[in-house]
Amino acid sequence: MTLQQTVIDQFTARYHSAPPLVVRAPGRVNLIGEHTDYNDGFVLPMAIDRAVVIALRPREDDLIRLHALDFDALIEFRISAMRKGEPSPAEYVKGMIFALQQRGLPLRGWEGVMQGDVPIGAGLSSSAALELAVARAAVAASGGVWDAPQMALAAQQAENQWVGVQCGIMDQMISAVGQRGHAVLIDCRDLSTTVLPLPSETVVVVLDTNTRRGLVDSAYNERRAQCEAAARFFGVKALRDVTLAQFRAREAELDPVTARRARHVISENERVLAAQAALLADDAAAFGRLMIASHESLRDDFAVSSEALNRVVTCALAHPACYGARMTGAGFGGCGVALVQASAAEEFLQHVARWYQARQSDGVIAPTAYVCHASDGAALL
Ligand code: GLA
Repeated sequence: MTLQQTVIDQFTARYHSAPPLVVRAPGRVNLIGEHTDYNDGFVLPMAIDRAVVIALRPREDDLIRLHALDFDALIEFRISAMRKGEPSPAEYVKGMIFALQQRGLPLRGWEGVMQGDVPIGAGLSSSAALELAVARAAVAASGGVWDAPQMALAAQQAENQWVGVQCGIMDQMISAVGQRGHAVLIDCRDLSTTVLPLPSETVVVVLDTNTRRGLVDSAYNERRAQCEAAARFFGVKALRDVTLAQFRAREAELDPVTARRARHVISENERVLAAQAALLADDAAAFGRLMIASHESLRDDFAVSSEALNRVVTCALAHPACYGARMTGAGFGGCGVALVQASAAEEFLQHVARWYQARQSDGVIAPTAYVCHASDGAALL
């Protein structure tokens, strides 16, 4: 049964009538442009066919009541009396409502049922999907106007100020603006977007290492601080404003670690723009080479990969139908992503399974691999 059907059935069972509103917001996989968003740079993700779906109806008062089927939890609070609680999915819901309230949106209560199929903590932005689904639900219940970039900013505010995660804007933006069958280039400085076709005759394969990120928050914040220090050194607002030539001219004056972090961000921004050109030229091979270079830069210069991520990339690249592969998301665990010839997709998945089977005795855990399709951003269904 689809998520949509499940939440409709569960809503009907609970409230004895069909839900007047059903909303959906997707997770994402980033194709290239990693750790560039908080440097005002470029990212090139796509929204995926895994999402959070909510069936709901407006209420006359200001109570929000949400049955979260995945967590077997009832999330319930009044908009006029929200308080921070222990870390739980409810905090994302409250945080989102808080951010909408801060923006002066007229809000009313609503009740409903929610379910999702974005794996949690895998680096596919399950939290952005949850936030944007809640935002879409709240705006639909209140009869407001949906402004996708503004809603992405509100979701980021929810993460930063309510949940306490200092993430950039990529995940929330792509969950808001994704386009079926397409990748989206996002300029994280002005939030302008360019919808781009995916290479023809290819598929995007997600390779979930099934390792979950540990210690990521402190490492993420440390990387951000290093990037900010490098930007200060160059006297610019963000590393987005430094070209590779400018970097090379002064790189020796930086301490080696800061230099490596900066080199990743600056070169990654250039790779994203080159990747855009590759998509416009329908050049899967060129796009794949950029993915490989991105992974090497994240592994060697930005130091956010892991053994499991490096292994899954090595495995993917060992198949001739794979144009390119890299780690995706914040790093330290989670998923790899590969661009693969569509006609060989099945064969590629079998190759991955066999490759890991051969290494089973070394205690290596096999990834969960699947083809992902680019989907639309947050929407009323
Ligand atoms: C996480 C953050 C994003 C981005 C990526 C790295 O997904 O939420 O904002 O910084 O890491 O590219």
